[in-house]
Amino acid sequence: MGRKFFVGGNWKCNGTSDEVKKIVTWLNEAEVPSEDDVEVVVSPPFVFLSLVKTLLRSDFAIAAQNCWVRKGGAFTGEISAEMLINLGIPWVILGHSERRLLLNETNEFVGDKVGYALTQGLKVIACVGETLEQRESGSTMAVVAAQTKSIAEHISNWSNVVLAYEPVWAIGTGKVATPAQAQEVHSELRKWLHENVGPEVAASTRIIYGGSVNGANCKELAAKPDVDGFLVGGASLKPEFIDIIKSST
Ligand code: G3P
Repeated sequence: MGRKFFVGGNWKCNGTSDEVKKIVTWLNEAEVPSEDDVEVVVSPPFVFLSLVKTLLRSDFAIAAQNCWVRKGGAFTGEISAEMLINLGIPWVILGHSERRLLLNETNEFVGDKVGYALTQGLKVIACVGETLEQRESGSTMAVVAAQTKSIAEHISNWSNVVLAYEPVWAIGTGKVATPAQAQEVHSELRKWLHENVGPEVAASTRIIYGGSVNGANCKELAAKPDVDGFLVGGASLKPEFIDIIKSST
């Protein structure tokens, strides 16, 4: 099944309004494949969502980096899914390892967030990934399968879900997974979807890789059959992000 290549840019907690304007300028000027072939979603910090929305080219979409687990209200500091919909932000990243580790977001909490965001009409980039200790102990697939199960339990329609495999040991470290390592986990995740959700979902769901992707390593990773794109951190703040967008062509 032809899965449209997907490239997300997770800007994390970075930027000033001037820096954001500079990034959007070179994004808008870039010659990239048609949106029929490559789906591009950039994810600025909450405070710049409206600015990016007013400036960004129409063939790129925008994601928030998180949202709250239920309807808004007395949850100081949180951003609700309803607010993102109201702002015209169609995507949200959920379950990022930095939130799982730094803010103790559990598998169950992430699953609940994914379920609620989807019911509110958001499209979700759902993140899974193991730590170095878990990989070295041989529990990579047990960990990412459990994370995926907690997410899958809340999904009835997978058409608005992209699954991001982001090995924690590769995030921000420069230690990118080898294409073989990425392909191994992606194919195991697709097999898990096939066995636990169904063949159509397994065939159609984009499974993207994140963790030290850059302009130099993206093409070899993109060539792997179960790598359907990327979720890019540091390199998404630099013009080499355009090379990553073009890496599947
Ligand atoms: O969400 C993507 C991010 O975690 C990857 O970060 O800087 O290793 O590309 P980076």
